[in-house]
Amino acid sequence: MDPVSIAIDGPSGAGKSTLARMIAKELGFLYVDTGALYRTVGLYTLRQGVDTKDPEGVAVLLPDIRIGMRYDDGGVQRMDLNGEDVTDLIRTPEVSMAASHVSAIPAVRAFLLDTQRELARRHNVIMDGRDIGTVVLPEAKIKIFLTASAAERARRRCRELREKGIETDLPSVLRDIEQRDRNDSSRAVAPLRPAPDAVMCDTTEHDLDASLALLLQIIRERL
Ligand code: DC
Repeated sequence: MDPVSIAIDGPSGAGKSTLARMIAKELGFLYVDTGALYRTVGLYTLRQGVDTKDPEGVAVLLPDIRIGMRYDDGGVQRMDLNGEDVTDLIRTPEVSMAASHVSAIPAVRAFLLDTQRELARRHNVIMDGRDIGTVVLPEAKIKIFLTASAAERARRRCRELREKGIETDLPSVLRDIEQRDRNDSSRAVAPLRPAPDAVMCDTTEHDLDASLALLLQIIRERL
């Protein structure tokens, strides 16, 4: 039987990764966080001192980037950049913005496409990102577009960053989220938008447990 794919797209901070990880565990699927791939390219670009908005400058770097993805014993997706574990380093606000910039560059999207599709060819996956239902896996069996208000997403992201020991404040997190929403939705290639056949889910009013129950219900009805 062909592997089953579930696509979860939506803006940053909507709860995609937390929920997708929990659903993957529940269903025994592989969870793939595709944002981590763009973040890894963003980190490399920053380290090379190249402008993350410069398409030619970033494209020249791509042949030197080897991205490794593996899962540790706890099922956490770990990212390697040219042999170095960068799992924690790619979570800073600076790398978030760099990822948003490099992800608008067509050569970067092409560079990461096969890695994502190959995983879906080999495993039952639940993959989260911005263009999974529209570009990466248009044939996904289930597509969910997860949103929440920008204010609520900023509150959640702020809490998450503080839990990781990254000092931050709500207004700057909200500003970053709104800026990334604009970048990710307005770019020419693979912009953030729901696939025509995606189920729309707004979690502004739902806590984590309620959101999880809602998504599991949607998925089980369709599997
Ligand atoms: O999901 P995230 O916040 O970790 O993603 C970081 C950035 O990567 C995000 O601003 C947009 C980009 N991205 C993308 O363009 N396509 C994806 N499938 C996943 C992420």
